[in-house]
Amino acid sequence: MFRLFKGKNGTNGAQADDAGRKAVIDIRGITKMYRMGDIEVHALRGVDLEILEGEFVSIMGPSGSGKSTLMNILGCLDQPSSGEYYLDGVNVSKLSESDLAGIRNRKIGFVFQNFNLLKRTTALRQVELPLIYAGGDGRTKRAKAALESVGLGNRLDHLPSELSGGQQQRVAIARALVTEPAMILADEPTGNLDSRSGIEVMQIFQQLNREQGITVVFVTHDPWIARHTNRVIMLRDGKVIADRLVAQPLVAGEAERPSEADEMQTIFQDVYYGGEKEEYN
Ligand SMILES: Nc1ncnc2c1ncn2[C@@H]1O[C@H](COP(=O)(O)OP(=O)(O)OP(=O)(O)O)[C@@H](O)[C@H]1O
Ligand SMILES: [Mg+2]
Repeated sequence: MFRLFKGKNGTNGAQADDAGRKAVIDIRGITKMYRMGDIEVHALRGVDLEILEGEFVSIMGPSGSGKSTLMNILGCLDQPSSGEYYLDGVNVSKLSESDLAGIRNRKIGFVFQNFNLLKRTTALRQVELPLIYAGGDGRTKRAKAALESVGLGNRLDHLPSELSGGQQQRVAIARALVTEPAMILADEPTGNLDSRSGIEVMQIFQQLNREQGITVVFVTHDPWIARHTNRVIMLRDGKVIADRLVAQPLVAGEAERPSEADEMQTIFQDVYYGGEKEEYN
């Protein structure tokens, strides 16, 4: 795979752990309350979370549990009602909208479930766009390199309607990584894809994570997809109810998807009990 990122991805003020890894994300006591007329909706009720550089994390949980709300806060698309968010060691919870936009452009690549591509714009141009906002030289060359890194070097001039769903999502991933962000956040990136395209997208994320050390955090409803990541965080009712390392993360494309019953059993074993058989019952 083409190596887009030359060095480390520029973490700065954050404290390192024993193994020398720094927290890219460090949130403390985050809450989010939406007011709908007289009604208060408590979407997040006190979330503490630390995600280290180079981690590959999936966030799961029932519909309405607060996953997208959390991702939007992590992605600096929205501010929490209370609590603190240190991104790469910088407290971003109190920044103005324009400062937040600057941080978002430099540090975060966001991938959405519905790709969010412009209809009448070629793949190459879509990927060049964030560079136009960010400024800098060699836009076309960098955009090409990003598309090559997701296996689309031969689809540069295609419009979204001339690409498969999986390819469109790969254009969106190239667009997210072309600015060399510290991390990629994705809200159900495989949600609109068939299982083969979903696995292709997982292959890209695994490569970015393993070969280039990019931190990846994404939301999925699919336990099989979650088993391809290194850590699974479960939300329910706006709180983290489980946070586990995946005992043996799967390599995308290598393992067959098991029957639904097997899959549920394994994910429960891994997620809730760290793969320890004796604790499972
Ligand atoms: N802009 C908003 N205004 C009011 N309430 C909202 C808003 N966005 C989300 N909510 C509420 O906050 C709660 C959490 O929503 P969120 O979208 O984070 O859930 P989710 O876990 O992403 O669900 P899904 O799996 O269906 O995408 C829900 O009860 C939702 O109705
Ligand atoms: Mg959601």
